[in-house]
Amino acid sequence: MRILAIESSCDETAAAVVEDSSRILSSVVASQIAMHARYGGVVPELASREHLRAIVPTVRLALEQAGTTYQDLAAVAVTEGPGLIGSLLVGITFAKSIAAVHKLPLIAVNHIEGHIHAVASQNAVEFPALALVVSGGHTHLYEVLEGFRYRLLGKTRDDAAGEAFDKVGKLLGFGYPGGPVIDQLAPHGNPLGVKFTLANMKGNTLDFSFSGLKTAVLRWFEARDLSEEVAARRSLLAVHPRPTVEQWLQVTPQATLDVLASFQYTVIEELLRRARRSGEDIVARSLIISGGVACNTGLRRSAERASLPYPVFFPTLGLSTDNAAMIGAAAFPKLARGEFAGLDLRAKANLALA
Ligand code: KG4
Ligand code: ZN
Repeated sequence: MRILAIESSCDETAAAVVEDSSRILSSVVASQIAMHARYGGVVPELASREHLRAIVPTVRLALEQAGTTYQDLAAVAVTEGPGLIGSLLVGITFAKSIAAVHKLPLIAVNHIEGHIHAVASQNAVEFPALALVVSGGHTHLYEVLEGFRYRLLGKTRDDAAGEAFDKVGKLLGFGYPGGPVIDQLAPHGNPLGVKFTLANMKGNTLDFSFSGLKTAVLRWFEARDLSEEVAARRSLLAVHPRPTVEQWLQVTPQATLDVLASFQYTVIEELLRRARRSGEDIVARSLIISGGVACNTGLRRSAERASLPYPVFFPTLGLSTDNAAMIGAAAFPKLARGEFAGLDLRAKANLALA
């Protein structure tokens, strides 16, 4: 059984063919990062226009690479939300057209559920599992029960973890997205060099908050005159859209490396502290960490070293950031249950998983 999946919730146009839940026959991602980088973040209007341009060749390539035609498909799956409304619309409209023309069932998938299946479809996850979805748009902690039923345990009250990485990166002149650069430079700084305080949550103590940490980095920045080094980094970016670590190190003094390392260390502490506590609460048998921030080397290392009483599963790097293979994987249980969407399916910018 093969499913063609389409994902267009943010700034990647993606299509994939997945067979029998877990075999990824193809996964094509047309990234718009280079375009948005010029504006320091995703520009929604430009994103939808790019999706329109990329969707046909991306889907065609995914089918071609999988050696699949529309006749071989059991269903078409598409991201219903959450995400940018104009971006979601492109994928949904295209998926509906394919479903109508080729008489295929249409399956609507929640993007966050996709991130969870990026891990669950490729590993022997045991239930109840704890799922930490950390990306540019989400920082959510769920209990995942047998049959993929979800219970929300905590979520961010302000910035998502990836958003905090991106804002700090932008503030210090590292361009967009900040996450991958901070990840590469953090090992060159002292994670205890700058003492940032952890968020003290009132109410649901499994919720997250990163705005205080972001403000603390801003205060640190404002207390010093960093205009020269920031200007040097901006000039570097103007010449090399993707500088190497060595090039970054030439324009980044030790004090700034220390603040990056300390910032990343604090984010990881926040994430793992709550994962540990909720894992105890639900007596978790696995921990899934997924989403773009799951690419972070420091987070992977710390999670492995945390000696948690259950295995921790990360997606492969290609399945961590947005892709359509995870949407295809998440569609299989719905296919088995006959849970299909109508051609009146709408994009839902704020769709919740639970
Ligand atoms: O899952 P994703 O591709 O898109 C969303 O659904 O948001 O995640 C993108 C986010 C960005 O904020 C990016 O900075 C962050 O993931 N990210 C990282 C790393 N790679 C990507 N954050 C920290 N370390 C990384 N290595
Ligand atoms: Zn995502």
